[in-house]
Amino acid sequence: MGGKGFDWLRQTGTETLRPFLFTIKGTCGTRSGRGWKGFYPMDNPILVTGGAGFIGSNFILQWLRQETGGVINFDKLTYAGNLRNLASIATDARYQFVHGDIVDRDFVREVLQRHQPSAIVHFAAESHVDRSIHCADDFIRTNIEGTFVMLEEARAYWANLAAAGRERFRFLHVSTDEVYGSLGPGEPGFCETTAYAPNSPYAASKAASDHLVRAYHHTHGLPTLTTNCSNNYGPYQFPEKLIPLTIVNARRGKPLPVYGDGLNVRDWLYVEDHCEAIRAVLSRGKVGETYNIGGDTEKTNLEIVETVCSAMDELKGDAQLFPHKKLVIFVKDRSGHDRRYAMDASKIKRELGWAPRETFESGMRKTISWFLENDEWVREVTSGQYREWMSTHYALEP
Ligand code: NAD
Ligand code: TYD
Repeated sequence: MGGKGFDWLRQTGTETLRPFLFTIKGTCGTRSGRGWKGFYPMDNPILVTGGAGFIGSNFILQWLRQETGGVINFDKLTYAGNLRNLASIATDARYQFVHGDIVDRDFVREVLQRHQPSAIVHFAAESHVDRSIHCADDFIRTNIEGTFVMLEEARAYWANLAAAGRERFRFLHVSTDEVYGSLGPGEPGFCETTAYAPNSPYAASKAASDHLVRAYHHTHGLPTLTTNCSNNYGPYQFPEKLIPLTIVNARRGKPLPVYGDGLNVRDWLYVEDHCEAIRAVLSRGKVGETYNIGGDTEKTNLEIVETVCSAMDELKGDAQLFPHKKLVIFVKDRSGHDRRYAMDASKIKRELGWAPRETFESGMRKTISWFLENDEWVREVTSGQYREWMSTHYALEP
């Protein structure tokens, strides 16, 4: 057993890796496999949960480009976790992957003890609204119970740090604008004091986790920070979400499903801008505070799909697919579909000096180019082959 990644870990010559078996049972299905748990020391890295997902992997790549410290990526590798995203840094001495579940309390404790992180950036979550409508069990388990475990273990770990470590430690919880519910046309964007009104099981599970984070700061003094961000798009996004799904289907001449009348509005932000905002909050944010992050880029879903179609037309690929707009199909609406999200990001701009670098046009250009240039990634993800790749490289079963 053991693939390239772990051979490399062994070469660091520090500690023996231990094999483990896992079976994840949920009412939505059962998955089992085997993996490795192993450790080697790094100087005060940050611990990132969910770092093999869309935003987490962009964050880790950006962190290693922009910061000096190391990163431990703690991820369960659900269908949404793809280590292929991080293949370019797999042998970077400042990066280590740890396969684990945030609900596994003993293992979370062990990881914190062994790695001594200076901060936790908590991305791990079930993140797709449609899946939460179909079956919410994993959302309750990971988003609520998992966040509870992370908070409990972070609290115990933090309480035992020496004074300087205690002073420096942060628990940054990554959340969403969806906790605030839906806006009517013309209503001002959500701000940090907007009352919570989550409408989907996903949003409700994230709202519950936000409340727990707030309580652990208020009651126990845990140095928490919370970020609530609008819809992200960019490289490595799993093609079950609107923008990557539209690009991938348009390329292949497949239908482009638009829910309901297509006039639901989202506020879009390029993923790298979100990652920069998280780094700004981590380094300069005020403990116990919440920061809303958004792109001031409200678009209807139909506008998004039409933007992708026009870009694909300009590329003048397969003439038979021209104009791509003809691939649009209106399908049954999502149950409880929120009509409009918009973020008021003035607090983070004013207090931390953050602002998005990308416009919608430049971000979409980068995103479309990335998906067209990374056809192999797309093929592996859409065919499920990425799980085989991870199995070969990381001794996990597909
Ligand atoms: P994603 O679904 O792409 O990735 C989630 C990652 O978490 C995966 O790597 C998965 O393997 C891991 N994970 C899931 N359950 C786990 C568990 N029990 N233990 C350990 N790891 C587990 O999600 P994303 O789009 O990258 O979102 C990351 C975070 O940002 C989430 O908390 C989400 O709520 C939040 N967020 C997302 C958006 C967006 O537009 N995608 C916007 C705002 C906030
Ligand atoms: P999505 O990318 O799932 O993000 P979220 O639900 O978190 O906002 O969906 C974005 C919007 O696009 C949402 O209003 C639902 C809509 N949508 C479609 O119209 N067609 C699709 O195929 C998908 C996946 C989403």
